[in-house]
Amino acid sequence: MTKLQLKNISKSFGDTKILHNINLNVHDGEFVVLVGPSGSGKSTILRIIAGLEQPTSGQIEIDGKNINNLPPKDRDIAMVFQNYALYPHMTIYNNLAFPLKMKNTNKETINSLVNETSELLGIRNYLLKKPRQLSGGERQRVALGRAIIRKPKFFLMDEPLSNLDAKLRTQMRAELLKIHKALSKSVIYVTHDQTEALTMGNKIIVLNKGEIQQEGSPSDVYEKPHNIFVAEFVGNPAMNLFKVIIEKKSKIFLFDKDFSFEVPENIYKKLQANNSLNKDLILGIRPENIHISEHSPAENKIEFTAHIELIEMLGNEQLIHASWNSNTKGSTFTIRHSGKCHLKQNESVKVFFDINNAHFFNSETGERISL
Ligand SMILES: Nc1ncnc2c1ncn2[C@@H]1O[C@H](COP(=O)(O)OP(=O)(O)OP(=O)(O)O)[C@@H](O)[C@H]1O
Ligand SMILES: [Mg+2]
Repeated sequence: MTKLQLKNISKSFGDTKILHNINLNVHDGEFVVLVGPSGSGKSTILRIIAGLEQPTSGQIEIDGKNINNLPPKDRDIAMVFQNYALYPHMTIYNNLAFPLKMKNTNKETINSLVNETSELLGIRNYLLKKPRQLSGGERQRVALGRAIIRKPKFFLMDEPLSNLDAKLRTQMRAELLKIHKALSKSVIYVTHDQTEALTMGNKIIVLNKGEIQQEGSPSDVYEKPHNIFVAEFVGNPAMNLFKVIIEKKSKIFLFDKDFSFEVPENIYKKLQANNSLNKDLILGIRPENIHISEHSPAENKIEFTAHIELIEMLGNEQLIHASWNSNTKGSTFTIRHSGKCHLKQNESVKVFFDINNAHFFNSETGERISL
């Protein structure tokens, strides 16, 4: 068993604190995705794990042993970067063999490891070529091969696919997961792309401004976002957020309008217990949970008129950008509609959502109110 732990890691550059008490556990064979906006501190965390940067405080441990002072070369950790910088004058074979030569590995072992690794990555036919003769995706595989070949305990990958076009990126994601399965080594994978995070990780860690916002499985993070930041960041298009006040059981105040609406007992009770009645709350509803009314909606559904501002055709579905009504431009929201679209821009349409699919957040702290 190999376990990596970050304990209360903080990092400052000069007076600026970049990381705040980061705690993180990576277990054997886990594929952990670290996701967050640009500048949130993702690369800094990887660089601290690799030993390229020292934390200002806190401990890094492997199997319970502190490695804060262990030089990078002794950490048994391989890092793959976004710009994979292969040696242009060397053949693919020599690019792969390079890390082993540095460790004085004998020729036969090198040969068998190069063959094994290039087989795994499907680049066996390119061994005698130079990097410039390869496509972007093939070069990325060579870069991965160079990390894999040393058989390190951990892989750190910093946006390794961001230089590839969309199609190749999707393909390489799947390949990376296959390779991860074959090697069963731990991977910490950094991306700012939340779709990539949702599709790749067993565990996702959402970072913002150097603080962990949430850690959990992709479905945890999507279905139960801890706070408004996670709710808006994870999911594409983003969750719609509305100000709401639940005054009493039969009345809610939404979009600056009173709705006579029977709030379901379970939700009402929880909000009451949370001291959240008669207060500004944020109601979150995902675009796929707002529906175009074809018939009168059943109980527990909030129905209102939406003014369609723009329709984005995505082939099998449409994203409808709408506003609460044509007078209050600015308060727009998104509806994800699958199936045929008979709607038009500037048209008004009745839509509804089920309050049981709504998320509630405290508008001051941004924290989720768990129902
Ligand atoms: N050596 C440094 N000196 C000063 N500030 C730094 C240094 N390295 C990083 N920073 C700052 O730390 C913050 C976090 O940077 P980091 O590179 O970890 O972000 P990131 O999440 O990887 O962003 P991106 O998605 O853009 O790669 C940024 O505000 C950056 O400017
Ligand atoms: Mg980065």
